[in-house]
Amino acid sequence: MKKENVYILGIESSCDDTSAAILCNDRILSNVVADQKIHAEYGGVVPELASRAHQQNIVPVVHQAIEKAGISKDQLNAIAFTRGPGLMGSLLVGTSFAKSLAYGLDIPLIDVNHMQAHILAHFIEEDGHNKPPFPFLAMTISGGHTQIVKVTNHFEMEVLGETIDDAVGEAYDKSGKVLGLGYPAGPEIDRRAQLGNPKAFQFTKPNVDGLNFSFSGLKTNILYFVQRKTKENPNFIKENLNDICASIQYTIIGILMNKLKLAVKQTGIKHIAIGGGVSANSGIRKALKDTEQKHGWTTYIPKFEYTTDNAAMIAIVGYLKYLEKDFADFDVMATARLKI
Ligand code: KG4
Ligand code: ZN
Repeated sequence: MKKENVYILGIESSCDDTSAAILCNDRILSNVVADQKIHAEYGGVVPELASRAHQQNIVPVVHQAIEKAGISKDQLNAIAFTRGPGLMGSLLVGTSFAKSLAYGLDIPLIDVNHMQAHILAHFIEEDGHNKPPFPFLAMTISGGHTQIVKVTNHFEMEVLGETIDDAVGEAYDKSGKVLGLGYPAGPEIDRRAQLGNPKAFQFTKPNVDGLNFSFSGLKTNILYFVQRKTKENPNFIKENLNDICASIQYTIIGILMNKLKLAVKQTGIKHIAIGGGVSANSGIRKALKDTEQKHGWTTYIPKFEYTTDNAAMIAIVGYLKYLEKDFADFDVMATARLKI
């Protein structure tokens, strides 16, 4: 007997992107993301502005996702939404919308942990993308998160280490601010890093035990370094920008790779998946690929559109939970500090 198709609407609104996606089983039919340009003026996400923009975006974004998928909303089997972690005001917009639509359509509601979703994005069926086999290690690196997680199955995950202060994307963005680059600075630092000398300048690597990370010391180190050098030569940044970017990138990748190597040593697991906005970084991609030959790792990098915050990753978790009939009650609350 042919199995019936399952259609899931995923909604993501945890930070500064309003996104809706439609999935048919584990294949994406549409994935619409409205990013919020307004925050660039402030050099970082302003929570109050983010929730207001979500309110404006959510109806058109969901509408567009359904239209692009070529289905009608009556065909939906369930609605999955990001419950947390994230900005409370932003989460509330997606949560309330998902609840009312699911209630109106009389279909199940599925709550999704955003951090699990970054990892389970690897299970979206895509031509040319291999899914990691269990168990594997996942490193989620973005503007809001830095975590290494042991993934035993779709829903059994253990955080082995995480940042004790800033996320790795923040290290990029805050260093960029010091250098006078726009927000977010990660892509620009990455582009310039490829043109500079990674060993031109040395920055201190944090000394954090085990698999936890720290990036706030590095940020201060870069700030003081640039201030000192600019005092000696007011054109220091301009004359050395590519080398500074290359040196920052070299330091950050060194930190990430050292922790990953330690995680592999501690667990014996050599299947490594990455996710989050910083996994677009050319340096980290290359460093990971190099380990395949050097250390016999197998690495998994999702398609770019599933690395940054998006609703496709929420919808795939929705699908996997739907198969388990793991539904949420309608009194479920958004939770800013949701753990994996
Ligand atoms: O996943 P994401 O879109 O949003 C968050 O959940 O934070 O990640 C955004 C972060 C920003 O900090 C941005 O600077 C960084 O990802 N980023 C990069 C690159 N592309 C984006 N960092 C380094 N290199 C890149 N190529
Ligand atoms: Zn995220």
